[in-house]
Parts: sequence; structure tokens; C-alpha cells
Amino acid sequence: MGNTTSAVGQQCLLNAVGNDPSLVAFPTALLYESVDVSPYNLDYPVTPAAVTFPETAEQISAIVQCAADADVKVQAKSGGHSYANYGLGGTDGAVVVDLRHFQQFSYDPVTTHATIGAGTLLGDIDTKLFDAGGRAMSHGTSPQVGIGGHATIGGLGPTDRQWGMALDHVESVQVVLANSSIVNASATEYPDVFFAIKGAGASFGIVTEFRIRTEAAPGLAVQYQLTFNIGDTSSRAETFKAWQNFISEPNLTRKFSSQLVLAEGLLLIEGEYFGSLAEFEALQLESRFPANQGYNVTVFNDWLALVAAWGIQLGEDLGGGIPAHFYAKSLPFSNTSLIPDSVVDDFFEYLDTADKGTLLWFIIFDLEGGAISDVPIHATSYSHRDALFWLQSYAVNLLGDISATTNTFLNEVNNLFINEMPNAAFGAYPGYVDPQLTNGPEQYWGANLDRLIEIKAAVDPQDIFHNPQSVPLQ
Ligand SMILES: Cc1cc2nc3c(=O)[nH]c(=O)nc-3n(C[C@H](O)[C@H](O)[C@H](O)COP(=O)(O)OP(=O)(O)OC[C@H]3O[C@@H](n4cnc5c(N)ncnc54)[C@H](O)[C@@H]3O)c2cc1C
Ligand SMILES: *[C@@H]1O[C@H](CO)[C@@H](O)[C@H](O)[C@H]1NC(C)=O
Ligand SMILES: *[C@@H]1O[C@H](CO)[C@@H](O)[C@H](O)[C@H]1NC(C)=O
Ligand SMILES: *[C@@H]1O[C@H](CO)[C@@H](O)[C@H](O)[C@H]1NC(C)=O
Ligand SMILES: *[C@@H]1O[C@H](CO)[C@@H](O)[C@H](O)[C@H]1NC(C)=O
Ligand SMILES: *[C@@H]1O[C@H](CO)[C@@H](O)[C@H](O)[C@H]1NC(C)=O
Repeated sequence: MGNTTSAVGQQCLLNAVGNDPSLVAFPTALLYESVDVSPYNLDYPVTPAAVTFPETAEQISAIVQCAADADVKVQAKSGGHSYANYGLGGTDGAVVVDLRHFQQFSYDPVTTHATIGAGTLLGDIDTKLFDAGGRAMSHGTSPQVGIGGHATIGGLGPTDRQWGMALDHVESVQVVLANSSIVNASATEYPDVFFAIKGAGASFGIVTEFRIRTEAAPGLAVQYQLTFNIGDTSSRAETFKAWQNFISEPNLTRKFSSQLVLAEGLLLIEGEYFGSLAEFEALQLESRFPANQGYNVTVFNDWLALVAAWGIQLGEDLGGGIPAHFYAKSLPFSNTSLIPDSVVDDFFEYLDTADKGTLLWFIIFDLEGGAISDVPIHATSYSHRDALFWLQSYAVNLLGDISATTNTFLNEVNNLFINEMPNAAFGAYPGYVDPQLTNGPEQYWGANLDRLIEIKAAVDPQDIFHNPQSVPLQ
């Protein structure tokens, strides 16, 4: 019929993977949706034209050529944790390049760089780096997220204030471009492609492997949790103000990570101090947060045990990393757009009165800044270098689609800050894709969008690498 679903040559794709039928699946396959496609956010069902499982960069190149010939969109899938299934194309009819076979790893003790296959999950990377010589890199707290989608959009996590975010570790990539050539991109080779890959990768190619700078894994780390009686609206607002005051002190050590978590009946402050218990205690958190009801620390001297603990904590926060119906939003705050006390009051007032339509909602304020902000804004396409902290909100429905009530609640939280802080420059984190944003690319890439549009026109003029909020051609 000439629609995109049937337009891609199935024989072409089969040839591309060396005529091995186990390396490509089409919609007619038994259990296609649940096994081959396997969407993460059940609120965004999507049926790709094909899911491929290539084993080499040359096979990816051939797959991209088939798709380009048929004018069909392509997206890579690494860990499959896009909030709106963009690794599956985000809309029907794309060719998916599932990178599960790209698990290669090597470590060079001289340069201390590691080469990592783009289908590797963060938890596996931690183990491989640590085993290779006690090394580590920054990344987020979920071990099931893939490096492919993480180190190409940002990658925010507890060690970012010291080391920068995941993409700041990337020294070079091997990438398959829209014209199906396989190139290495770095600061000196294909620098425009490299700029684009570090923040907007899904719009520009398929990274097959990353060469990353590593760090010595921290020896000692203190994980802390301050709990609070849920109290009344104003006491919660006061605790938030104390947190914002503390994390916005210009001399705050980069060894300190922190998040303030709000959920139904819950307010807590938690994070890590990457150093000794004595150094942590010198911060005197308990005196900074007079309302706290309990103070809990665990001292780790084992990096892998600490990262495993993040995964567990995240599971508790989000109700599990398994596929579910959910909606999520983000909003950055910089040291020039701290939240005025009156707006904090209004926010907590709104939280206490809003109809949320679910008990499974979370609003997390995440301290970032530090080394992320050391990198000039135009050095990589990631554009929110000045974010001192992020608001991330989530709502989960275990039974069916997210309701209109819940959706409105999360949108109104963001609108409250946007409307009451008219002089602040906001935006959205490209790692937490929000399909409801009408101007996603502007929100994600801000001051770097114009350059990205120019690069897109030069390297992907047919818009092969596309999802509903990818960098547009113009
Ligand atoms: C439970 C959970 C916890 C999370 N925690 C954090 C966190 O702590 N910090 C944080 O920053 N983010 C976090 N995220 C967001 C996460 O970083 C992004 O969703 C990320 O894009 C997922 O990458 P992926 O490879 O798993 O997903 P995928 O769905 O496979 O890919 C996501 C996007 O990246 C593209 N992509 C994937 N691989 C490549 C490649 N090799 N080359 C080019 N493009 C590629 C895909 O096409 C798609 O558009 C979390 C997400 C979830 C679901
Ligand atoms: C990319 O870099 C790797 C490792 O340095 C090298 O083996 C490979 O030949 C390079 N590929 C290209 C296309 O330059
Ligand atoms: C940081 O500066 C504040 C004053 O702005 C001071 O009260 C605090 O003790 C300092 N903290 C550290 C760790 O030096
Ligand atoms: C302390 O930590 C334990 C487990 O690490 C947790 O179960 C408990 O609720 C925490 N208590 C407080 C007061 O934070
Ligand atoms: C505010 O943040 C910027 C980085 O975004 C930093 O350069 C500057 O020093 C910070 N100012 C203060 C007062 O903390
Ligand atoms: C493929 O695209 C890249 C980036 O635009 C370009 O440098 C290269 O010359 C192209 N290769 C071919 C064979 O056209």
C-alpha cells in the first residue's frame, strides 16, 4: 500500500544482517510486540516496521542504507528506557536497531580510557570498569539504563558534581551516519558530529561504541537519609527552603550529592558524601534541617555496593524499573533562578490541595551543578550546563493509562513555577523526554538548537534518525 510500514525492504534488512533470520523480526513474528519490541512505557504503544539485532557496525551500516532507500525512519535501542519509547522510533513504522549484541569492553591502563559497546547497561559497565582496575564513570542511578541512550543525552547522577555527567566522559565514538558511513568522531575528527552526539545523539546516528575517560572509583562514601514528619504545609515548605539555601551556597563541596524527595505522605532528603564519615559529619546537616526526625547513614567502602544501593533506592522511589504506564516531566533551576520563598509556599499549598488522581506520584529535586557547569555551554550540544538542580516528577499507574487528572497535576506543577517566575529561563532535560511539550527541541537543546539544525541539514538531510522530538531539519 505504500505506507511506511510496508515500504522497507524486508529482504534488504535480512541481507543486511547476513541472511540470519534470528537477527531481524517483523510485525508478523509471533510475540513481536512483547518480545522483540517490548515497550518500556505502556502509555505509548508503538509498532516498528522491523526490529533488527545486528552484530557488527557494517551490518548497522547496511540496515541504515535499507531504511534510507525506503525513506523509513531509524532509531537505535540500547537499554530501552526512553520515557516515551523513542528507542522504538516513538511512532509506528520505524526500523529499530537493537544494540544488545554490542557488549564489547576493553580498558587501556596507560590512557585510563575504556572502550564500551553501545548496548551495554550501566550496571554492567560499573562491574567491568571496577574489575578492570578499580575504575568508574558518572551515570544515573538505574543499572538497567543503556549507555547508548544515556551518554548521548546527558546522564545525571550522584558523582556528576565531581566528574561531570556521563556524556562528559566521552572522548570519542564510533558512529554510523545517515549516509551509512562508519566514522570515528572526536574533538578532532568530525567535530560537528561529536558536538551533536554529546547531547542529541538520537537525531544524528547510531553510536556503536564509546571511548570514555574513567576515574578512580571512590574509596569511601557515606550514604545519608534525613527523614521528616510529614507535618503541615508550612513546615514542609520551610524544609524545602532550608535545602535550597544549603545546596545553593557557592562553597558547597562537590563531594556532596543530594535530592529532596516528595511523595504521598513522604518528605526526605537523601544522597551521598564521597569521603569519610568525619568529613560528612562536619557538614552538620542536622543543624541545617532542624525539623529532621532521624538521621541515617551507611558508610560504604565498596563502590559496587554503593551503586547497587542506588538501584535499590530508586526502585523504592519509583516502584520498580519494570514496564509500566507513567508520565514524567522535568524543569531546571539555576543559581540565578532560585525559587523565591513565596513561590515555595505556593508550591506546597498546591501539592496539598491538588487532585492527583493517583497515590503513586513523586517529585524529586536533584542537586547537580559542580563539574557539569565547568564545561562551556557551546562545547557539547547538552545545553543545561547552568542547572544547579532539577525538578523531576513522575506518576505511575499500575493498572492502565495515566488519567487526565494525574496528567494535569504534573503539568500544573511545572506551570506554577513557570508562571510565578517569569524572568527565569526554563527548559527540559532531553533524557526525560516529555512527548506533551509542544516545543521539545527548544526545551531540550535551547541555545544549541540552531547549530544542531545546521549540522542536521549537513549530515542527515533526509531526516533518517528521527523520533517525535528529534532535532528538526529547519
Ligand atoms: C527507571 C529509570 C531511571 C532513570 N534514571 C536516570 C538518572 O538517574 N539519570 C539520568 O540522567 N537519566 C535517567 N533516566 C533516563 C535515561 O537516562 C534516558 O531515558 C536514556 O535515554 C535511556 O537510555 P536507554 O539506552 O536505556 O534507552 P533507549 O530507549 O534504548 O534509548 C533512548 C534514546 O536514545 C537513543 N539511543 C540509544 N542508543 C543510541 C546509540 N547507540 N546511538 C544513538 N542514539 C541512541 C534512542 O534512539 C532513543 O531515542 C532514567 C530512566 C528510567 C526509565
Ligand atoms: C576508529 O577508532 C578505532 C580505535 O581507535 C580504530 O580501530 C578504527 O579503525 C577507527 N575507525 C575509523 C573508521 O576511523
Ligand atoms: C560556606 O559558606 C557559608 C556562608 O555563606 C558558611 O556558613 C558555611 O560554613 C560555609 N561552608 C563550608 C563548608 O565552608
Ligand atoms: C535507615 O535506613 C534503613 C535501611 O537502610 C531504613 O530501612 C530506615 O527506614 C532508615 N531510617 C531512617 C530514619 O531514615
Ligand atoms: C552560578 O553558577 C555558575 C555556573 O552555572 C557559576 O559559574 C557561578 O560561579 C555561580 N555563582 C554563584 C554565586 O554560585
Ligand atoms: C557521509 O557523511 C559525512 C558527514 O556528512 C561526510 O563527511 C562523508 O563524506 C559522507 N560519506 C560519503 C561516502 O558520502
